[in-house]
Amino acid sequence: MNKLLLMSGSIACAKATGLISAWVKDGHQVKVAITDSVQHFVGCATLEGLSGHQVLTNTFAHGDMMAHISISRWADAVIVCPATANLINKMAAGIADDMVTTTWMAAYGLDKPMIVIPAMNYLMWQYPATLESVNKLKTWGVHLIEPEAGILACGETGVGRLPEVDTLVARIEALL
Ligand SMILES: Cc1cc2nc3c(=O)[nH]c(=O)nc-3n(C[C@H](O)[C@H](O)[C@H](O)COP(=O)(O)O)c2cc1C
Repeated sequence: MNKLLLMSGSIACAKATGLISAWVKDGHQVKVAITDSVQHFVGCATLEGLSGHQVLTNTFAHGDMMAHISISRWADAVIVCPATANLINKMAAGIADDMVTTTWMAAYGLDKPMIVIPAMNYLMWQYPATLESVNKLKTWGVHLIEPEAGILACGETGVGRLPEVDTLVARIEALL
């Protein structure tokens, strides 16, 4: 299966790289597109090394400006992990101002499974706009894998943790 991983800038980016390794080991093709923030958490070298494909970062890359269209057609499934509060709210508001949001919107409507996997501080998760955006995405047919409760990377306790990679792999396969 061709899996398109869309990543946004969370402390959970490092954990999410485990998804790429697991999928590649299972024989899937994986391509990755990232927001600019992701490069503060994991480097393109890691993402390209694990996936074996060029990482898409720039909507306006010379010679590759239709990548958001071609990659969304290439994908059998679109998985957003980790999904930041910022990205979830942008997707629900119909904002397409970077590679990830543009690719997401270009893929929606193609009748492929689209899965969003949030990770954030518990207060960002509880923020009214985030809750509304999550509900909006669900009513649009987007699958959501809920964050877990526990001690968060920031040291606070609450709902917002990205589930462990094995759990994610199993839950994603069940949805697909
Ligand atoms: C150390 C650190 C960890 C962060 N972790 C998260 C996170 O887990 N979830 C989240 O929604 N935002 C997190 N942020 C904030 C986002 O990186 C920030 O909102 C950014 O603008 C998101 O951009 P993007 O959605 O375009 O990737 C974190 C920021 C820092 C500095």
